[in-house]
Amino acid sequence: MPTTCRSRNQEASPGAPIFGAVEAGLGELAGLAPSEVLRRRLERAALLLAAIESPPGLASPGWAALLDAVTVQETRLFRAAPQLLALSALLPELPGRPLRLLSAGCASGEEAWSLAILAAKSRTRAEVLGLDLCRPALATAEAGRYPAGPPDALREVPDAFRPWFIRDGGWVVPRFEDLSRPRFLRANLLAPPEEIGRFGAILCRNVLIYLLPAARDAVLRGLVARLLPGGALLLGPTDSPPAGLPLRPEPGAHGIWRRS
Ligand SMILES: C[S@@+](CC[C@H](N)C(=O)[O-])C[C@H]1O[C@@H](n2cnc3c(N)ncnc32)[C@H](O)[C@@H]1O
Repeated sequence: MPTTCRSRNQEASPGAPIFGAVEAGLGELAGLAPSEVLRRRLERAALLLAAIESPPGLASPGWAALLDAVTVQETRLFRAAPQLLALSALLPELPGRPLRLLSAGCASGEEAWSLAILAAKSRTRAEVLGLDLCRPALATAEAGRYPAGPPDALREVPDAFRPWFIRDGGWVVPRFEDLSRPRFLRANLLAPPEEIGRFGAILCRNVLIYLLPAARDAVLRGLVARLLPGGALLLGPTDSPPAGLPLRPEPGAHGIWRRS
């Protein structure tokens, strides 16, 4: 039966009506009843199957749907707060005004909003940009509304930063009126668009662990090239930059390097 379904899917273009034979096959195979929900899932599965028939590309509907489906969006407001507090202490000496901060692999935007709050609290004029591949995550990032929990969305937010959020029913929302809103962009860290410019600090935390070794190096080299001299690079707990990059560890701060 899977062979039959596959050959029929190959004839379909993404978004074409789902074949009755596929529904019949699923009913025969696993007793699944036809329904609206099943239809929607089949349409999505058809896109995923189509992916392998077109060359990999961010603009290909199939590959885009695959990336949405397979990337890991685990993130939290003020995740790894001690590292963010160390960054906060460095803000006055970081290059560029307005200070430009990049959340590379921003997922649903909690890191970018945390950066906007760090800058606002320290009265540093800043622009925050978040980059990611995953479209649903970027839509959440733009909205900046997070389920209050449980688990408590503010559980990692240090007390001093909690007043920068309001609770709105079952949601936690940054105080937009007191912040410079981050911008979010769908982009591949392996080939970020030239026009994003250069930054005073770049965070690429909990992203590299999902990449092949060669891709990790390429992403890091690309990001370091976008750091202004004196700028800070913040990585996840298990990451370290490859040798030969113009970086020196920031004394006393775990996971922070400065561009020389
Ligand atoms: C686990 S989240 C990390 C979120 C945030 N940086 C944090 O530390 O909480 C990893 C994110 O990296 C994104 N990602 C993975 N590979 C990427 C690539 N090549 N280009 C852009 N984003 C990528 C994923 O879509 C996902 O949203």
